[in-house]
Amino acid sequence: MRIKAFFVFSLILIGVAVQTAEARQSTARAREEKIAAKCVTCHEKKSPGIVNDWRKSQHSRARVTCYDCHKAEKTDLDVQEHEGALISVIVSPRDCSRCHPKEVREFQESHHAKASTFLSKETPEGRIMDNVLGYQVEGKAAAAVGCEKCHGSKIELGPNGTLTAATWPNTGIGRINPDGSTGSCTACHTRHKFSIGEARKPETCGTCHIGPDHPHIEIYMESKHGVIYQSEKDTWDWDIAGSNWDAQYYRAPTCATCHMSGIGDVETTHNVSTRLSWYLAKPRSYPRDNWEENRKTMQKVCLNCHSINWVKGFYTQGDEAIHLYNEKFYDPMKALMDGLYKDGLLTKAKFDEELEFKFFEYWHHEGRRARAGFFMMGADYAQWHGFYELGRNKLELERLIKELREKKGKH
Ligand code: HEC
Ligand code: HEC
Ligand code: HEC
Ligand code: HEC
Ligand code: HEC
Ligand code: HEC
Ligand code: HEC
Ligand code: HEC
Repeated sequence: MRIKAFFVFSLILIGVAVQTAEARQSTARAREEKIAAKCVTCHEKKSPGIVNDWRKSQHSRARVTCYDCHKAEKTDLDVQEHEGALISVIVSPRDCSRCHPKEVREFQESHHAKASTFLSKETPEGRIMDNVLGYQVEGKAAAAVGCEKCHGSKIELGPNGTLTAATWPNTGIGRINPDGSTGSCTACHTRHKFSIGEARKPETCGTCHIGPDHPHIEIYMESKHGVIYQSEKDTWDWDIAGSNWDAQYYRAPTCATCHMSGIGDVETTHNVSTRLSWYLAKPRSYPRDNWEENRKTMQKVCLNCHSINWVKGFYTQGDEAIHLYNEKFYDPMKALMDGLYKDGLLTKAKFDEELEFKFFEYWHHEGRRARAGFFMMGADYAQWHGFYELGRNKLELERLIKELREKKGKH
């Protein structure tokens, strides 16, 4: 009897404890919602664009408030006292990970999250070369408005948690945030709509994947896939959640479909590296670790709309084009350039001689265009902006190198 009474009493105690914890939680939530309501009332007048966007977002529908994202701890390096609340301006991937842990984990594992490593000095040869170009040949201010806009800056802090103008604004894909996390989710989901549909459109990727050295958006737009996209995009449904967005909603893939989206039995991923078999952007291409598995995953994407013979044939043609580039165009020219350094005809310093610019463009511009042009189905890029220019510039480089050797009497 006594045991039973004790048991009942304990149950009541536990019940009360649970209730008070719940009550405390809901009081805390009510307090936060009150703070958040003030953000909206004031910003509606001061910056209506922000509040309008947020109102149209899935976040607003799910009652995710301004304060849920911007609230900060006293100990955060970029904490600011703002209208009676502690906030930070930057909402980093770490902040998003409270509610989206899977997306953030995958993103952090990708090359996107590492895109600003070239800022540091302890990097491999190829990267230091680009580094010298941005920061020394051109200058720091040029790097801030160029390289760092796509790759990301290292955010520096001024007094009271403010962000310095030298490093902010910046939404580069590998930005180094004050909390130590890397990246910026707004690079593809612009604030404050944070739309899934926007991120699936090729123009979003094209803000960075563009230009003479990596013209992926231009290549895509001239491919059959891109042409179908342009003629039919207004009739496609872009806002279907996660892995339900498959070939019944579109007739041709976008960048996201091939590199990120869930389709058939391929799972959605925020790691854009997991479906790639080659390193296409490097001076000389070589296969990735896990290249066979990665390639299979990409091929599974294609198989939603193509047959296996089509896809295998495509990859065979691509592999042959890569070997052609490596062996006929890159290797012989690299050997000639190495010879010049060895014989003291070029200085060790990078980008202080015209020949170095010419060789840089040879692999960095036309060499990349030839390789990416084929793999993303833009024949004009593979040919006229790619292999054709390699052929012509190979002759020119050979002539310049011969002339230099003759001038210095070292041939
Ligand atoms: C009484 C009006 C008011 C309230 C309440 C208010 N803000 Fe602001 N907020 C402003 C104004 C005005 C600015 C622009 C300040 C400026 O231009 O110097 C601003 C700026 C900001 C910035 C950018 C700061 C920067 O350094 O770039 C953020 C982020 C921000 N507010 C978020 C919030 C959040 C989150 C809340 C609620 C916790 C909130 N605000 C509440 C008026 C308000
Ligand atoms: C889902 C998270 C999220 C929510 C909800 C959110 N923000 Fe933001 N906000 C961000 C991100 C991300 C940025 C860009 C900063 C960065 O790059 O990290 C930002 C930037 C800002 C800025 C600076 C923008 C500029 O262009 O100067 C202001 C001001 C701001 N938010 C106010 C608000 C207000 C007001 C609300 C509510 C109506 C709100 N935010 C809701 C994530 C959020
Ligand atoms: C407090 C929790 C919370 C935080 C913090 C948060 N989100 Fe969300 N997010 C949600 C919820 C809830 C939804 C809507 C339901 C769903 O689709 O999961 C959502 C949906 C989304 C979507 C899909 C929108 C669509 O159009 O379908 C994107 C993209 C997104 N969030 C990005 C972000 C980013 C980027 C950040 C950080 C800047 C962030 N979220 C921070 C809770 C959060
Ligand atoms: C318009 C956006 C943009 C600008 C500006 C830009 N980059 Fe890039 N960069 C990219 C993209 C996109 C790639 C990936 C190319 C690929 O994989 O084909 C890349 C690739 C690289 C790589 C090769 C990374 C690797 O893993 O091999 C380096 C290094 C690099 N960029 C450095 C720089 C430097 C230094 C600058 C400034 C002088 C700069 N970038 C300017 C977008 C940009
Ligand atoms: C804000 C700029 C930016 C945006 C937007 C962007 N990227 Fe990138 N992307 C980069 C940079 C910079 C790199 C090179 C990273 C490195 O290796 O240093 C890169 C690399 C890549 C790579 C090669 C990764 C690897 O492992 O070598 C793929 C694939 C890629 N991006 C796909 C996409 C897709 C798809 C989108 C759109 C959904 C997109 N990117 C949007 C800047 C961007
Ligand atoms: C390179 C562009 C890019 C970046 C950067 C990016 N996303 Fe996404 N995100 C996408 C694409 C594309 C989709 C749609 C994937 C699909 O079709 O399955 C998406 C979908 C989402 C969704 C919806 C998932 C679902 O299942 O409905 C969330 C949540 C999300 N992203 C959060 C984030 C967060 C958090 C970050 C920052 C760590 C981030 N994204 C950075 C391109 C990006
Ligand atoms: C039809 C599918 C498809 C579409 C659409 C597509 N890609 Fe690709 N992409 C590929 C394939 C296949 C490769 C080469 C994969 C390999 O190495 O095995 C590739 C390679 C890349 C690389 C090279 C990474 C490296 O090694 O340097 C980048 C960056 C990239 N794509 C970005 C984009 C962007 C940005 C878009 C849209 C403008 C896009 N892709 C559209 C299939 C696609
Ligand atoms: C959502 C469906 C879809 C996906 C996924 C898809 N394609 Fe396609 N692809 C098409 C359609 C539709 C065409 C146009 C066919 C035609 O010309 O009649 C096409 C055309 C092509 C072409 C012909 C290009 C030309 O210039 O004639 C190639 C090559 C190709 N796709 C390769 C691929 C590869 C490789 C993948 C995977 C990396 C892939 N596709 C993924 C739908 C798709």
